[in-house]
Amino acid sequence: MQGKHITLAVTGAIAAYKAIHLLRLFREAGAEVQVIGTEHSLHFVGRETWEALSGRPPLFGLWETPDPSKIPHIMLGQEVDLVVVAPATANMLAKAACGIADDLVSTVLLAATAPVLFAPCMNTAMWEHPATRRNVETLAARPGIHFVQCAEGKLACGTEGKGRLAEPPTIFEMAEFLLTPKRPERFRWLITAGATREYIDPVRFLSNGSSGLMGRSIADAAWRLGGEVTLVTGPVADTTPRPYPVHTVTSAAEMATAVNEQVPLCDILVMSAAVADHAPVKSVAKQKKAGGDISLTLHSTPDILTGTIPLMRPDALRVGFAAETEDLIKNARGKRERKKLDLIVANLVSMELDPLGSQTNRVTLITADAQEELPLMPKRELGTLLAVKIHDMAARKRSR
Ligand code: C5P
Repeated sequence: MQGKHITLAVTGAIAAYKAIHLLRLFREAGAEVQVIGTEHSLHFVGRETWEALSGRPPLFGLWETPDPSKIPHIMLGQEVDLVVVAPATANMLAKAACGIADDLVSTVLLAATAPVLFAPCMNTAMWEHPATRRNVETLAARPGIHFVQCAEGKLACGTEGKGRLAEPPTIFEMAEFLLTPKRPERFRWLITAGATREYIDPVRFLSNGSSGLMGRSIADAAWRLGGEVTLVTGPVADTTPRPYPVHTVTSAAEMATAVNEQVPLCDILVMSAAVADHAPVKSVAKQKKAGGDISLTLHSTPDILTGTIPLMRPDALRVGFAAETEDLIKNARGKRERKKLDLIVANLVSMELDPLGSQTNRVTLITADAQEELPLMPKRELGTLLAVKIHDMAARKRSR
């Protein structure tokens, strides 16, 4: 997103206010955004808001121009990396489908050579109208045109149904996807994330503080590279729908079953889940408060990574994580060899730095013949960096 140029076209729907959040997401991620809009959109959000948040005057008419030496509708659809229409009304979809160019937004869309992302928003009856259905179909079949599906829920008119504008983070995610150059190989990734829960009784469990953010960040980045991603996750607080299949499991045993089912098909396995190594022998009734101490008998859970060794193709890539409190490198090296990993991502856990559940992480990457220490960075950024490295390692392994 850093340094990318985006034309954000706002049309006249009540959800225009959500485009403010979208604009902020683009700007925070480092994109340069030129806001354009229809005259109708000005009834919902005024010029001043767009100007203040984008840092440049928004444009609403065919005769407005940011640079007199250039023709605005050509520049805004051709000299940018992406055009995002959010919210996109039924009217604008109809105009774009037919090639009508009677205002700035529709003229930019007709002239656009950059990819275009539509985020539709309208009343359910308008969305389901055969005319809109046909227009969406026509547009979706054109190269370079993409859609973020509208969501179901409460609509401004008081009814419930399909037609709500997708949430800004979902539109942002799709824009990020479209702006990421795709890799020629389309690998099948199986990624695990989060903590497992081992129940002591029907209400209590043993677990750890993993939020699943590291694994999810790798999965998101792998998807943006064009990978076919499946995520197996323990129960996590962030349940935002992902654009790839997600299987939620509870215990280590359930995670093992889900992984073993999927792993024979995968090209890349990334085991970033913080799996419990021991589980209590589950009692059926809730433990009563009895006063005094109690003891728990714990049995070992299956080591999922080790269990996948005979199930994977020899040219598939295996990646594991190691969280250690001491002798990080020595222990991680040993783990890499025992679990037959191509790469182990090692992170030190201390009182000062606990990567589980935090937003940042500092890791050392260890392969058979190299070791690379990375600086402390946000997990989202680390996920992107790791996905690219892992993809390239998988491509090299396959070509050997
Ligand atoms: O041996 P240790 O549990 O420290 O190894 C960590 C790595 O092994 C991580 O990649 C983790 O996801 C995986 N693991 C596993 N099955 C377990 C425990 C950990 O696959 N039961």
